[in-house]
Amino acid sequence: MRIEGKEIVVTGGTDGIGKVAAAELAKAGANVTIVGRDGAKGEAVVRELKALAGHDRIGFVKGDLSVRSGVHAAVGALTDRLAHIDVLLNNAGALFQRRELTQDGIERTFALNHLGYFLITSLLMERLKASPAARIVNVASGAHAGAKLDLDDLQNEKNYSGWRAYQQSKLANIYFTYELARRIEGTTVTANCLHPGFVATRFGDNNGGWLRTVFGVAKSLLAKTEADGAQTSIYLAGSPDVANVSGKYFDNCKAVRSSAVSYDEGIARSLWLASEQLTGQ
Ligand SMILES: NC(=O)c1ccc[n+]([C@@H]2O[C@H](COP(=O)([O-])OP(=O)(O)OC[C@H]3O[C@@H](n4cnc5c(N)ncnc54)[C@H](OP(=O)(O)O)[C@@H]3O)[C@@H](O)[C@H]2O)c1
Repeated sequence: MRIEGKEIVVTGGTDGIGKVAAAELAKAGANVTIVGRDGAKGEAVVRELKALAGHDRIGFVKGDLSVRSGVHAAVGALTDRLAHIDVLLNNAGALFQRRELTQDGIERTFALNHLGYFLITSLLMERLKASPAARIVNVASGAHAGAKLDLDDLQNEKNYSGWRAYQQSKLANIYFTYELARRIEGTTVTANCLHPGFVATRFGDNNGGWLRTVFGVAKSLLAKTEADGAQTSIYLAGSPDVANVSGKYFDNCKAVRSSAVSYDEGIARSLWLASEQLTGQ
């Protein structure tokens, strides 16, 4: 796969599967901008990726994607730098064992994993539409299976569980992708989402205690490598096979069905409206 000169933005490109995807896409000839919250780490990763890719067309943009001001800061820097965007890979995400609020007063899992994708995509839509053929790729998860969204309690104010909030945020990624695909139908932009598999990254390490231990043991026994886990993201970002595919959920580089509830268009629409309100769009 050669994708010479494509402008690709990868959120959460400083670690895990986002970093591997950024490296592979850069090696395939793309200009890659990674978005992350830590300036020093971001610049170090850029140096690493330049060496791996053998070219200098790799940059870093800073922004904490769990807060509105951070998303706006990242988007300001991206739009200064890029006249058009060919691929937006929404990948930054995490699980938070304890319920916390961001400085915007929003539950952190929902804020980062769902509203982060929603807001950066909305704010970059003009740059995506400026590309002759753009792709939005949302990293969701098979963890969405079994989850339901409570539209009256999107931020889990009642009875928070970190795992359930994470599952719901990944279901929200799928609703968002399907609703987005319906809204951009007929434009030059596509939107798809994916499950990367269970991957041995730093995912979950931000939590202490038993959760970190359980994740650590499970990852050492069962997980894919980061290189394998990045494959579906790389495929959806770059492969000519999916140039005209939109509104699908992928696993192992194949379109598969997501959970039955994820196809509920009424919930997807309501989530969209709530997300607009919560992000000030
Ligand atoms: N690992 C799995 O088994 C698995 C399975 C299914 C889905 N996923 C999904 O895959 C995606 C990537 O996860 P991963 O496994 O690669 O995890 P990871 O190794 O922890 O990497 C997460 C990335 O997101 C960035 N990030 C976290 N919080 C951020 C914030 N507030 N603002 C900006 N960037 C932020 C991290 O930045 P720092 O470098 O600053 O930490 C890092 O680059 C997530 O959406 C996750 O839900 C993972």
